[in-house]
Amino acid sequence: MTASDSAPLRQISELPNHIGERVRLRGWIRAQRSSGKIRFVEVRDGSGSCQCIIEASDEAAFQALDGQGIESSLIIEGEIREEPRSPGGVEMGANFVEILQTSQDFPISRKEHGIDFLMQQRHLWLRSPRQAAILRIRHRLIQAAREFFDENDFTLVDTPIFQPGAAEGAGTLFEVDYFGNPAYLAQTGQLYLESAAMALGKVYCFGPTFRAEKSKTRRHLTEFWMIEPEVAFLELPGLQELSEQFISHLVQSALKHNRADLEFLGRDLSKLEAIQAPFPRLTYSEAVDMLHSPELHEKLSAELEAEQARAEAMQSEIEEKEKLHKAGGKAWKMEKLQREIQALRDELKELEIWLQNQPAHIEDAKSFTWGDDFGGDEETILSKQFDRPLIVSEYPAGVKAFYMKQNDEDPRTVLNLDVLAPEGYGEIIGGSQREENLDILLEKMKEEGMDPEPYQWYLDLRRYGSVPHGGFGLGIERTVAWVCGLKHIRECIPFPRLMGRMQP
Ligand code: 4AD
Ligand code: MG
Repeated sequence: MTASDSAPLRQISELPNHIGERVRLRGWIRAQRSSGKIRFVEVRDGSGSCQCIIEASDEAAFQALDGQGIESSLIIEGEIREEPRSPGGVEMGANFVEILQTSQDFPISRKEHGIDFLMQQRHLWLRSPRQAAILRIRHRLIQAAREFFDENDFTLVDTPIFQPGAAEGAGTLFEVDYFGNPAYLAQTGQLYLESAAMALGKVYCFGPTFRAEKSKTRRHLTEFWMIEPEVAFLELPGLQELSEQFISHLVQSALKHNRADLEFLGRDLSKLEAIQAPFPRLTYSEAVDMLHSPELHEKLSAELEAEQARAEAMQSEIEEKEKLHKAGGKAWKMEKLQREIQALRDELKELEIWLQNQPAHIEDAKSFTWGDDFGGDEETILSKQFDRPLIVSEYPAGVKAFYMKQNDEDPRTVLNLDVLAPEGYGEIIGGSQREENLDILLEKMKEEGMDPEPYQWYLDLRRYGSVPHGGFGLGIERTVAWVCGLKHIRECIPFPRLMGRMQP
């Protein structure tokens, strides 16, 4: 049998609509096995994967698949049949195969790989179904963000990446040589966006931002994508509402369009379904009281005990499985056991680290002093107490950026908001009302040791029709991590840039 020119090219995702038809697919081999008389080839094409079955009587096609390893690229043709047991509900009875390129020894197999290895192979790792699911959810969240601002009459304004100075503290600036003068990669588009808000009212920007973060945490990238709205005449209560509407829209959109991907990642969907406005609100001072409260500490000790018990149970489960493995058996059963043992060991290792550190975190929470910034640990503890994102406002001025508006009711604090995602994920949004008073702003810059000269254009916004205004920034990768239920931010961007990683 040769390829019939008439067989139409289809995407795997559309196959359920073509049962009984002869179609052509183009893609890559994810796996294949053979019983001698029949071959099962799992083909993926980016839109999904499809089991293709080739019988030995179709000699040419059968032989073409000889020696083709994982990720060999091919064209395959055959009839689509209903198959309720396969994921898409269909399979292909194939009788034509054309190999485009033979791939052998693809570095990533189904066995467990270490994270460093996978990161080095990131360009190939993206082909795994898990990574593809994460990328699709990232796409959806970005799409939903644009949709949200579009539907609410915001104008997209692109802000520059080369900038003359700092907006979020000089400590995390990346300096580049700009024709002999220093320039800096954007930490935020905000200052430019403020001037656009004075022109257009409601604006947003979306682009890559850069921070020379010398911290190796699961929440920090050196290059991340931020979506930032900025609105003239919007004050803190309005910003709180905008942030909860925005986040609810993102999460509900992912649930609507990417349910299968979220399920594939093992995400607890009920946790996402709960993400509906209104969100709980605390001032910073209330949050500090909470960190000190006996009720919280009772809860934390109970959690610690329960996790200790869980670790012990996991340890016995591992020993149990190891015994079974020692006893031996069918190869596929042994492989499955081995995978399960490895997964349990990884989980236990992480849990043990948590158990080791948590007592210190609990002590830190108890002794937290008003005026300090919340670290990741305080954020984790606070955000675990709620089933929706927590909006914390009015932080001490000393730990926040120069542009944040002073709180007239308590001048020690500013009119800002941080939104902490639940389940311990922590800050996904940071923002504030902006200081619109020229004199106060100048004073603030002086206190911070900033030279006002490069900021004259920014100060002009306070000279020519200054009005109350505000906005915030949402980090896409942290949002992806939370929505997907991932522990580390590094899988939430196609090619992560971390303190210790520039390759590939
Ligand atoms: O809180 P940040 O620093 O706020 C700003 O940059 C403001 N200028 C935004 C504004 O008001 N227009 O950052 C905002 C968000 C954080 O909440 C977090 O989600 C993300 O950006 N973010 C990072 N994400 C990954 N890696 C990093 N190093 C990040 N730093 C901030
Ligand atoms: Mg912040």
